Amino acid sequence: MEQTFIILKPSTISRGLVGDVLTRFQRKGLIISGIKMMTLNEAILREHYAHLTDRPFFPSLVKSMMRTPVIVMALKGVDAVAVVRSMVGATNCRKAAPGTIRGDFGMSGQENIVHASDSPENAAIEIARFFKPEEIFDYDIITGPALYAPDEV
Ligand code: PPS
Repeated sequence: MEQTFIILKPSTISRGLVGDVLTRFQRKGLIISGIKMMTLNEAILREHYAHLTDRPFFPSLVKSMMRTPVIVMALKGVDAVAVVRSMVGATNCRKAAPGTIRGDFGMSGQENIVHASDSPENAAIEIARFFKPEEIFDYDIITGPALYAPDEV
């Protein structure tokens, strides 16, 4: 089953929204295969946001991501990357549709509540960047038959 990678950003931690955001993913039927709190440093952020290092906002983004610890998660489900991206909404919270996580919880492009992988390939890279192999768990959930038809999994 596909996995995706999420960061609950410092905006989520500071504003006490961890439970609200996590509940949305769990209610949807995504399975937590990894979760931990960690402090990010400039080295890992330079790697994670390598495609953005030339952008004028890059220093501000890095500083923001180190303001508090973050919670990183690996979530599993059929089409997990696309499902999570649609739940999260547009990058800028002010433009994100109501009903999406960013649309409901934020007002900013930088303080945009969560990071979510944009492709299965990047999800695999990001999970390997932030988790050790033994921190990712593969287990059966008892609601399995209530979540998917047999030919969907
Ligand atoms: S862009 O502009 O299309 O490249 O942006 P995008 O790839 O969608 O966003 C990548 C991350 O950059 C952050 N971002 C910003 N940070 C600070 N200031 C501004 N103006 C800004 N615009 C975008 C944004 O929070 C994205 O972070 P992640 O963690 O990937 O959601």
